[in-house]
Amino acid sequence: MPSILAADFANLQSAIESVPSADALHIDVMDNHFVPNLTLGLPVVESIRKVTEAMLDIHLMIEDPDRWAPAFAEAGAESVTFHAEAAAAPVRLARELRSRGARAGMALKPATPIEGYADLLGELDMVLIMTVEPGFGGQKFLDLCLPKIARTRELLDALGGDVWLQIDGGVSAETIERCAEAGADAFVAGSAVFGADDPDAVVTALRDLARR
Ligand code: DX5
Ligand code: ZN
Repeated sequence: MPSILAADFANLQSAIESVPSADALHIDVMDNHFVPNLTLGLPVVESIRKVTEAMLDIHLMIEDPDRWAPAFAEAGAESVTFHAEAAAAPVRLARELRSRGARAGMALKPATPIEGYADLLGELDMVLIMTVEPGFGGQKFLDLCLPKIARTRELLDALGGDVWLQIDGGVSAETIERCAEAGADAFVAGSAVFGADDPDAVVTALRDLARR
């Protein structure tokens, strides 16, 4: 899933059209409070919705997702992910997202353990394990997150069902195999994709590496 954070914000439509092979478009919403950076919000997501049929995977790095997240589901995003550290009532919020027809995702920063959330994984469609501190693209992949990916995989396997395990941050041809080996099955890549001359070829190559 290419992250459009690394694309040219003045030419988002052409960036989107440059990755037709993508399984989804990952859209990073930042509010300059939860993370020290500001990106885009609901109006831009609504505009993107009008120009593509692709699955929209919204990653909310914002305070008070309980209040703001449902509107992204209403805007037609297929997947909405909020941060565990920011949500006041993650179970209620996940149910609200699902009732609006979206997949519900919950993200964890590198220092946040999965264990405290083990009992509510069944309320989710996706867990996002951040492999950098959220806020910026182009950061170095944190290998220290790999054990948490493996522990999350074990919890999800024990649960059964089909909760996706997504990785975001520093994913590239160098690091994606390590993530897949640890048990991830959905991968976000920003700079690796949009920094390349042929973004769509990178999407295909990364997917092949992850499947190997
Ligand atoms: C970072 C964002 C990521 C970012 C990843 O906070 O959540 O989605 O775009 O960028 P790369 O792949 O360059 O690390
Ligand atoms: Zn992201």
